[in-house]
Amino acid sequence: MSKYFKRREFLIVSPTATTSPNFPLKGIAGATGRLDVIARAILVAKTLKTNAYIIVKALLLGPPKPPLLLEVHIPQVNRVYDNEVEVISDIRKAMMGERVNGFYIERISFKHVLSELVDVNKNVYYLHEKGDSFKTIRPSATIAFILGSHVDIPAVYERIIDQYGIKRVSLGNVSYLTSQCIIIVNWLLDVFSKPLFHRIIDV
Ligand SMILES: C[S@@+](CC[C@H](N)C(=O)[O-])C[C@H]1O[C@@H](n2cnc3c(N)ncnc32)[C@H](O)[C@@H]1O
Repeated sequence: MSKYFKRREFLIVSPTATTSPNFPLKGIAGATGRLDVIARAILVAKTLKTNAYIIVKALLLGPPKPPLLLEVHIPQVNRVYDNEVEVISDIRKAMMGERVNGFYIERISFKHVLSELVDVNKNVYYLHEKGDSFKTIRPSATIAFILGSHVDIPAVYERIIDQYGIKRVSLGNVSYLTSQCIIIVNWLLDVFSKPLFHRIIDV
């Protein structure tokens, strides 16, 4: 395994996702303030064929009691999901205080989440359509990316990201879904951890 990008964190910021487990498992998208976007991100992360240690974090900022951090350590999740409803069901259990392998819930502020991200990871980037080319990312063993949910990260939080000096990087002009970004970034990190390809692929 390459010495680069062995640990990959994705922090999704959702300004609307519910911070209560009191929702039905039918009509999820509307009832949960788009928690389905977070569930889909976890679902795709679980299907990735990589040896890297992947963590998906989601900062939930919707009612009734924000902020709430959901942290999912993908290699610790020992069940196979068939669909996002099964993932949402596990998120709900974790929110209710039940033990779910790989799922952790914490009440923590946005600044605190960012401080931890910057402390733990050698390089942290904000995925933004108007950022610098993705090929400007620096190789390191640990890396983290911050990204929006069904909507972009609100300006008030972007300003805090900027205060931490976190650079914006782009995947191009196309606006991708959050889950698609995770797939693309993982693929790019796999490619970029091979020095030869690093030189010939233009992203
Ligand atoms: C579904 S998008 C958010 C809404 C989208 N910008 C729109 O206008 O419909 C989710 C997040 O993925 C990331 N993203 C999507 N496309 C991207 C791109 N081309 N380059 C970098 N990040 C991207 C951004 O962090 C964005 O906030």
